[in-house]
Amino acid sequence: MKTVALVGLGARGLHTYAPYAKLHPEEMKIVAVADVVPERVTLAAKEYGVPEKMCFSSAEEFFAEERLADAVFISTQDRQHVTHALMALEKGYDILLEKPISHSLEECYALKKKVTEKNKLVVVCHVLRYTTFYKTIKQAIDSGDIGDIVSIQAIENVGYWHAAHSFVRGNWRNSEETSPMILQKCCHDFDIYGWLIGKKCIGVSSFGSLSYFKKENAPEGAADRCLSCKYVNSCPYSAKLIYLDNETGFYAGNTDWPVNVVMEEPTEEGIIAALQTGDYGRCVFASDNNVVDHQVCNLLFEDGVTVNFTMCSFTSEMSRYCKIMGTKGEIIADQTSNLVTVSVFGKEPVVYDINQLATDLSGHGGGDNAMLTEFFECLNNDQVDALTTIENSVQSHEIALACEKSRLSCGAYIALDDLRK
Ligand SMILES: NC(=O)c1ccc[n+]([C@@H]2O[C@H](COP(=O)([O-])OP(=O)(O)OC[C@H]3O[C@@H](n4cnc5c(N)ncnc54)[C@H](O)[C@@H]3O)[C@@H](O)[C@H]2O)c1
Repeated sequence: MKTVALVGLGARGLHTYAPYAKLHPEEMKIVAVADVVPERVTLAAKEYGVPEKMCFSSAEEFFAEERLADAVFISTQDRQHVTHALMALEKGYDILLEKPISHSLEECYALKKKVTEKNKLVVVCHVLRYTTFYKTIKQAIDSGDIGDIVSIQAIENVGYWHAAHSFVRGNWRNSEETSPMILQKCCHDFDIYGWLIGKKCIGVSSFGSLSYFKKENAPEGAADRCLSCKYVNSCPYSAKLIYLDNETGFYAGNTDWPVNVVMEEPTEEGIIAALQTGDYGRCVFASDNNVVDHQVCNLLFEDGVTVNFTMCSFTSEMSRYCKIMGTKGEIIADQTSNLVTVSVFGKEPVVYDINQLATDLSGHGGGDNAMLTEFFECLNNDQVDALTTIENSVQSHEIALACEKSRLSCGAYIALDDLRK
């Protein structure tokens, strides 16, 4: 069993990773917790029996102490990851590090250098690689059955209410404070396609914009807050519908994400109060968001392999889809149906039903828990090489930041070598 300190007790730290300690007490014990929100520290301490002297009011206060655990989970916000990871490495911790590593490539490279220097295990949370869904695709590709990959067509369906929640009203609405959406949301996709292709990306071009969630698109006479708006029951982005009425809301019995982002321990009165005054009750046309709501990216890999990737907010599903075209066959993988269909040219297609194959489909299709299982295996074996190391993850950040640069230059081609200079 390994001891863990949780730094950042939000949706990921407290609600996604911490429960693994209850699921697998033989692998993980939470011994210290840190967050700048005192209620979260109290809640975590109570839930996991952490003594007061091991509760800290910030990452900085926690890292000022000598090493207190075998490993630290860093689940603070995007722009804090590198600072907190560097502090952790100085104290000798192995690290589970939330993505994105950083919005700055210089910071990514600096951290990568330090990790090599300290020879510690640092797993970046690219949870998709650990899912049965993507492992099945990877195995099908590696079997050679579809020949060499020539091209991939892929889409990330962000989901209309998820877009409104996270990228219009919520934490990732403003790239000046956090990350461009193509990095925040799609470093996962670029990581996955790089992994599946097994080659290096050479260059990109990209288009996209914030087309809809802005003032001029507000319907006639809309209010700045949903609860006082005449469209409260008809606008699909209505905060009342998302957090109370719909299947995502409190009245449908949901007290987890996204409702617990609006209010830590949700109650009806508490949610209504939060929607009356807080960020999540704002009209989607009257927020201070600047990130895109759709973006398309063309990626060129070694040997002329191409990827055409679309990220779009205006979808009913929150899922990913890809069609992988090889010289001898194709794979169609759809997270909505959870089916992976492998068609070798001239033969009957083989369908893998992930609903049947996976033993765990919780958090990110089982990826969250599977990643933690591998993390503890690595710790127990003193292994610093995992499926999603910094080394592996940096290329996805380079691709995302190159796409953002291209988008801001009206689709200009960006060579990754130039970006690295
Ligand atoms: N791997 C994935 O698939 C995935 C999914 C969602 C989010 N994320 C990433 O995980 C990270 C956390 O996301 P979240 O949804 O949990 O956000 P969150 O805002 O719910 O949690 C972040 C927590 O960090 C705390 N914090 C801020 N400053 C701190 C400090 N100095 N010391 C200690 N704690 C501090 C905040 O109070 C908050 O509780 C983000 O970087 C996000 O991009 C990853």
